[in-house]
Amino acid sequence: MKPGAREVVTGSARETRDLAGRLAAAAAPGDLVTLVGELGAGKTQFAKGFAAGLGVAATVNSPSFTLMAEYEGRLAFFHLDLYRLSGAEEAMAGGLLDERRADGVTVVEWADRLEGLLPPARLAVAIEGTGDAPRRIRLVAGTAPYERYLAALDAAA
Ligand SMILES: Nc1ncnc2c1ncn2[C@@H]1O[C@H](COP(=O)(O)OP(=O)(O)OP(=O)(O)O)[C@@H](O)[C@H]1O
Ligand SMILES: [Mg+2]
Repeated sequence: MKPGAREVVTGSARETRDLAGRLAAAAAPGDLVTLVGELGAGKTQFAKGFAAGLGVAATVNSPSFTLMAEYEGRLAFFHLDLYRLSGAEEAMAGGLLDERRADGVTVVEWADRLEGLLPPARLAVAIEGTGDAPRRIRLVAGTAPYERYLAALDAAA
């Protein structure tokens, strides 16, 4: 595996949340974390754990009908779910590329809906597996600054 990537297997939703929580320790303003994986893969579990790691006290659920939800933590936490996305304009409207994003950390479920519109500067998370099966979670640092996240994982291991 290239240096800018890691693969972790989790055996429960709790383990996925814990993994995301450890990653959140590395979060800096303006960061983008993209999540892909089929229905029920654990994207929202990941987002919940990431939010907890940022010190968000509120309950994080899928913002399916609002496209984006905003929470307060150590940094602002922007949670997007693009499952119902039909066009790039909607994503702009939803704030993915909004300037406010600079103030917090943005976690995007169904990021593959935006395909080529995603910037390389992001932590790309792909979750494989559903149901009771273990999840294979692949983390790729899109640019060098995002290797911070992988280092945080190594430090916590
Ligand atoms: N290792 C695991 N990691 C994450 N979730 C797991 C794991 N094992 C079982 N689960 C269960 O799988 C489900 C994942 O649901 P979750 O809502 O996070 O998926 P999702 O990817 O956000 O789906 P959707 O595309 O519908 O938004 C939860 O019910 C969770 O308890
Ligand atoms: Mg979800």
